[in-house]
Amino acid sequence: MQISNTIALVTGANRGLGLAFSRELVRRGAARVYGAARHPDQVTEPGVTPVGLDITDQAQVAAAAARCSDVSLLVNNAGVMRASTFTGAPNLDAARAEMETNYFGTLSMCRAFAPVLAANGGGAIVNMLSVTSFYNNPFNSSYGASKAAAWSLTNGVRLELHHQGTLVVAVHAGFIDTDMAALASGPKDSPEDVARQALDAVEAGQPEVLADERTRTVKASLSRDHELIYPPIQEFWDSAIRSTS
Ligand SMILES: NC(=O)c1ccc[n+]([C@@H]2O[C@H](COP(=O)([O-])OP(=O)(O)OC[C@H]3O[C@@H](n4cnc5c(N)ncnc54)[C@H](OP(=O)(O)O)[C@@H]3O)[C@@H](O)[C@H]2O)c1
Repeated sequence: MQISNTIALVTGANRGLGLAFSRELVRRGAARVYGAARHPDQVTEPGVTPVGLDITDQAQVAAAAARCSDVSLLVNNAGVMRASTFTGAPNLDAARAEMETNYFGTLSMCRAFAPVLAANGGGAIVNMLSVTSFYNNPFNSSYGASKAAAWSLTNGVRLELHHQGTLVVAVHAGFIDTDMAALASGPKDSPEDVARQALDAVEAGQPEVLADERTRTVKASLSRDHELIYPPIQEFWDSAIRSTS
């Protein structure tokens, strides 16, 4: 599908990658871009129509689908990362918040907008996932679990909506240079580049984006993950534990 003249909705459009998606959609000539955010007054990008939306609130999700019934491209970008381990976290709050937003919130949006997309010719869904959909890492363990769940969701929704002509694009990336990765060191993708790659995939009808070299290497290593992926992470984590004990 072409972005030009498309009507799109981006969640978490007020900052970070969501803002980059909104800008790139406007630049590519989308007829309308709904910028959904928990605080719509923070959506100030020219050409973007603010919509109040917390994706964990079922009533707000239903209201957004009713209000934005002309959408043919849904970008599920909103997400949270609490940098929490499975066994060391004081309670389940972080794990629940990540699952509630990254998995259940994305699921609610797919369910609410599936009939909207069908009514508008099929369209497309972009789900913003992560390299951590593919493996776990103690620096953000419960986030990885939520992104693995969202990867499975993305593959399932693609199967379920194929009959109505909806393209479902999974976008996996390593660190992206936004607030979420502010404390991370190492190379980061630019949000503009990730948004461009994701929208290129929509226009080309491709189901998956592996946005950077690290993400491509990790996915290619999955069949040998216990040789290639986990040993260096284990070594790093064990030495981090030793240095704090
Ligand atoms: N940054 C990275 O390294 C990285 C790497 C791979 C994938 N990702 C994924 O990329 C996506 C965008 O992340 P980012 O890097 O732009 O992070 P960010 O700078 O922290 O922005 C997150 C966005 O999600 C919104 N959001 C959070 N919970 C929400 C909810 N319940 N309802 C509606 N909006 C909500 C935030 O809104 P508020 O301003 O109201 O908090 C904000 O707009 C996320 O899905 C993230 O997991 C990020």
